[in-house]
Amino acid sequence: MSVMDTLLEIKQKASEELAALDGTAALEALRVRVLGKKGELTALLKGLGQLSPEERPAAGAQINDARAWLQARMDESLARLQAAEREAALQSETIDVTEPRPLPRVGAAHPITLVMNELIDCFTGMGFEVMEGPEVELDHYNFELMNIPKNHPARDAQDTFYMDDNVVLRTHTSPMQARAMLSRKPPIRIICPGRVYRADEVDATHSPVFHQMEGLVVDEHVTMADLRGTLSAFARKMYGEDVSIRFRPSFFPFTEPSAEVDLTCSACHGKGCRICKETGWIEVLGSGMVNPKVLEMCGIDSTRYSGFAFGIGMERLAMRRFGIRDMRLLYEGDARLLGQLR
Ligand code: DAH
Repeated sequence: MSVMDTLLEIKQKASEELAALDGTAALEALRVRVLGKKGELTALLKGLGQLSPEERPAAGAQINDARAWLQARMDESLARLQAAEREAALQSETIDVTEPRPLPRVGAAHPITLVMNELIDCFTGMGFEVMEGPEVELDHYNFELMNIPKNHPARDAQDTFYMDDNVVLRTHTSPMQARAMLSRKPPIRIICPGRVYRADEVDATHSPVFHQMEGLVVDEHVTMADLRGTLSAFARKMYGEDVSIRFRPSFFPFTEPSAEVDLTCSACHGKGCRICKETGWIEVLGSGMVNPKVLEMCGIDSTRYSGFAFGIGMERLAMRRFGIRDMRLLYEGDARLLGQLR
């Protein structure tokens, strides 16, 4: 068969197939078969060597003409098929903008974070500054400078996670008192929120990781009345005018005198219930006048300056605030519960 006849046959067959194509994928397959590197036209070109030198130029030109013609037909088909496919996609993918959709799930701050932020607001409003420090703490700050000597029961290995002889996971935020006094000059007015650690078994009121907020004020003429006034203001701001606050004498090595502070139970308003163990009160913090020994160890002249300190248990506050009886609910991360506590 002559080159001319073969070309005619290829063109005719391709034309028929082009007319019957059902999509761009089939077009591409056809293009590869006819015009591709290993396609029918290329095969013809390779066969030119068998023709006589006189015949070759004309045959070559015919093949190139055929290629151009086929390419043009295929380009037309491509445009037509693409338009049809776009139209079909638009038809099948129309969006019904009136269709109701599920409500988005909105996140919420964790109850502890919420209470912490409120506390920070409350105390910064009274002129306190937020100061943060390490959770992995030197024994020296966590105990020594807090006037808790080597043989004190609070250091019992059962309570403290020791990293090594000199390094612990802080058991309270009180070491921040020492860090503040050693790095600042009076007047000092700081709060230090953060995580603390104790080797406690998990139960309804205990967790090996919990949260405290330390407060410290050091200045000239600071008295117990300032402590009482500050904590009363905090209680009223957080819980309203009708909350009562009670100071009970207590002991902490780093404060002298020391007091534990109770608020009226929010569940029973002081009548007595399960949450407050029938006492009508919930203990929320420890406090006191900074022990002059601690002031001196931290480089503050105790004849000129005095101070007060307090340590607030954040879980207690959150539980009181949301009426939760079991601390574990705060840590289990059940979004159905946490989403309700706002
Ligand atoms: N650090 C004490 C604790 O973890 C709480 C505390 C008590 C902090 C009295 C104070 C304070 O600043 O004055 O139990």
